This record gives sequence, structure tokens and C-alpha cells, in this order.
Amino acid sequence: MGGIDQAFVQEPEQRPKPSTIEVDGIPVIDMSVSGTGGIEKLASEIGNACRKWGFFQVINHGVPLELRQRVEKVAKAFFDLPIEEKRKAKRDELNFTGYHDEEHTKNVRDWKEVFDMLIEDPTFLPASPDPDDEEIRTYSNKWPENPPEFRETCQEYCREVEKLAFKLLELISLSLGLPANRLSDFFKHQTGMLRLNYYPPCPSPELALGVGRHRDGGALTVLAQDDVGGLQIRRQSDGEWIPIKPIPNAYIVNIADALQVWSNDLYVSAEHRVVVNSERERFSIPLFFFPSHYVKVKPLEELVNEQNPAKYKEYSWGKYYVNRTGSNYKKLEAENLQIDHFKTPESE
Ligand code: OGA
Ligand code: NI
Repeated sequence: MGGIDQAFVQEPEQRPKPSTIEVDGIPVIDMSVSGTGGIEKLASEIGNACRKWGFFQVINHGVPLELRQRVEKVAKAFFDLPIEEKRKAKRDELNFTGYHDEEHTKNVRDWKEVFDMLIEDPTFLPASPDPDDEEIRTYSNKWPENPPEFRETCQEYCREVEKLAFKLLELISLSLGLPANRLSDFFKHQTGMLRLNYYPPCPSPELALGVGRHRDGGALTVLAQDDVGGLQIRRQSDGEWIPIKPIPNAYIVNIADALQVWSNDLYVSAEHRVVVNSERERFSIPLFFFPSHYVKVKPLEELVNEQNPAKYKEYSWGKYYVNRTGSNYKKLEAENLQIDHFKTPESE
């Protein structure tokens, strides 16, 4: 079918339609703050975007452009290597970091290759999703030999984008009417990672997706995309897929599942996907910002009261993460774990 492996072919209702709609996209927020009330204004813009879209772009974010360009260069140099060379740093059963090209979203194969690295080295995670298994495993990064500057560049970039993620977390706390540091403690031993995504040109872009529709499982995602475009988000009001316009040197920020739960559904973790094209390769670099494995995620007490009861039961971030990650490696019978699983009866 269309000259591509059946494993990549989406169900008809998931296939991208040629889009002709021209829309005002998600908000673009300038993070440079000046004058009195600057921070409050910024937090309120962010709060509005989180309620309406769960997505926004930021400019004047403080991550040096020169560093971003260097990381884009090493990403390209790495993915340009012969496949045998890339597979030397391949993800395996024991260590999920490194290169892989067989990720599935909702059991259909994604048209992409990725390289994953942990922000904290080492990172601690439960050994299994089983709630009775208390074993904790230690994970370290796997690095390729080439390009030689890969490791150092990625590590430097991680630190900078991590700073931005903490800044955004503070602004999001303020936007919820909470102290700036309200959420910070959840990230003392954060379990997040930086991912380099490479989407090769696809001979049948009408059948496959770079990443199938999904919501990000963590707290926050901070993503750099190149000028090709392809990321789309599902608009809450009508379910329409809206393209996210590339803006040079901006970051795309989205609320992920844990923040939706902490906010007790005030903020949304929006569904999104990536469409591919037959002409140009595309690169994107998300930083997935995840809490410590032992954090129990539940609606924040300050946001819950008798009129507005908790919409979720508490769940362990580490167990949730390990459960979801397991299902990305291979096809599973069922859809993977989602926050809906923890909805309280009162919220239905
Ligand atoms: C993801 C994702 C979007 C993109 O990796 O979770 O949604 O533009 N990526 O690559
Ligand atoms: Ni995503």
C-alpha cells in the first residue's frame, strides 16, 4: 500500500487530510518582563493559553540561539550516519536511552527515528509497573561516538532548556494563584529526557504519521522545531487539527498529563500529532519535563474544595511512566495507560 510498510499505515480516520484551513494558531508569548506587574501579566497570559489550548509558543526565553544551532547541527550529523553506525547506540531491553527507529504510538509505527537522553544522569525509576514491586533501577545515558561533540553539546543544551522549564513551571504555578515554587519540589530527582526527533521524507504522507495522536504523559514539554512544520494540535472546541506554525528560535510549550491532574482539569493536556511530507526531512527537539519517580500525582489541595472535588485519584508518577514507556517499544493489545484511568466517579 503506497509503497510503505503496512506497520506505518494509519486507520482511515487517523490519516491526515490535506489542510486548507488558515487559522490563528496558539498564542505566542514574549517572556521578557519589564515594569511593575510584568510577571503577573506574563503569568496571566500563560494561564489563559493553558486553559484554552494547553499549548503556547515562547519568544525571548533565554536559551541562547547559538547553542540551539549547535545542537541542531549535531542532531543532523548523527541522523545522517549510516544505520549500522546509529544502531551502535541503540536502545535495548536494559537501557531505554539512545537511538531507536521502531517507536509505536497507539500501536501504529511512527515515521521517525529518535535519540533519547536523560536530563539527570543517573536517573532513578521503578523496575516495573507492578505496584507491589519496590525495586528501583538506575539508568545512565548511552552516547554515540560520532559526531565527537554530540555528548557535550547535548548536555549543555539540556541544562539551558531545563532552566527554561523550571522558569515556566514557576509561571504556571503563579498563574494558578499559587506560590511560584509550589511545584518545584516534585522535580528534585526529575526523570525527564531530551529527545532528538528525525522525520525522514515519507513516500506516502497521506497514510502515515511522524507521531500518531497522543498526549504527553509528563508535566511539561518544551520543544524546538525547525522551519518545516508538521506538528498539529487538536482544537478543543471542534476537534479540528490545527498546524503549529514554525517561528524561528521560539519554543513550543505544552501542558502534559501531570499538570492537567495537578490543576484538577483547569489546564489541558492537549492531543497532538506530527504529519510528515514527501519532500523535506524534519527535525524537532522536545525536552520532556517529568517529576521524581516517587511523586504521587493528584489534584493540588489548594485547587480542590467541596464545590469542586478532586477529579482524579492519586497515582505514582514512576509506575505510570514505566507502564507507558513499556508500551512504546512494541505493539500491545490494549491502549497504554492514560490519566482518564484515575478519574474519580464524582467527575464523570
Ligand atoms: C513528541 C511530539 C512533536 C514534534 O515527541 O511527543 O509530540 O513536533 N513531538 O516532533
Ligand atoms: Ni508529544
